[in-house]
Amino acid sequence: MLEQDIKKVLVSEEQIHEKAVELGKILQNDYKNTTPLILGILRGSVPFMAELIKHIDGELEIDFMTVSSYHGGTKSSGEVKLIMDVDTAINGRDILIVEDIIDTGRTLKYLKELLEHRGARVKIVTLLDKPEGRVVEIEPDYTGFTIPNEFVVGFGLDYDEHYRNLPYVGVLKEEVYKK
Ligand code: PRP
Ligand code: MN
Ligand code: MG
Repeated sequence: MLEQDIKKVLVSEEQIHEKAVELGKILQNDYKNTTPLILGILRGSVPFMAELIKHIDGELEIDFMTVSSYHGGTKSSGEVKLIMDVDTAINGRDILIVEDIIDTGRTLKYLKELLEHRGARVKIVTLLDKPEGRVVEIEPDYTGFTIPNEFVVGFGLDYDEHYRNLPYVGVLKEEVYKK
């Protein structure tokens, strides 16, 4: 079972649900005069994106982009690769990027600059923020939980593609990635 590899639960299923309700209401109000494009960053954002949009009672569209910078390990490679672009015209649009986590900040800095360069107004919502991990300057507009500098998995976050389906966010036992 996946649970055996988890040292502790950092953010529970219930806490995530409550936070999605809270953020959904705020976003609903902040975007009431426009139809935002809610942009999920594959693959980690999928569970949070699905949870969040259920709680935004207003007009919106969704789309996805795939970028990758971890390539399997526990450390950022430092290079962000664009794997799949958006399909939607974005010039002049309000875009809300949905992320599972902001760590070094490289992924979101890259994405924000790319989308702004194409003429979009960009904001960021992230389930988790790990400010101690930051190596480039970028801040989310909306944050679910600020977490300490530990390697976390679950609710979309993976270690080598595993654990994305855990219903909560947990800290992985060290022996799992040291073996
Ligand atoms: C992870 C995570 C964020 C990014 C955050 O994605 O989902 O997108 O890294 O790290 P950063 O702030 O240091 O850039 P990853 O590249 O592992 O791809 P994935 O979403 O498919 O797991
Ligand atoms: Mn990701
Ligand atoms: Mg990953």
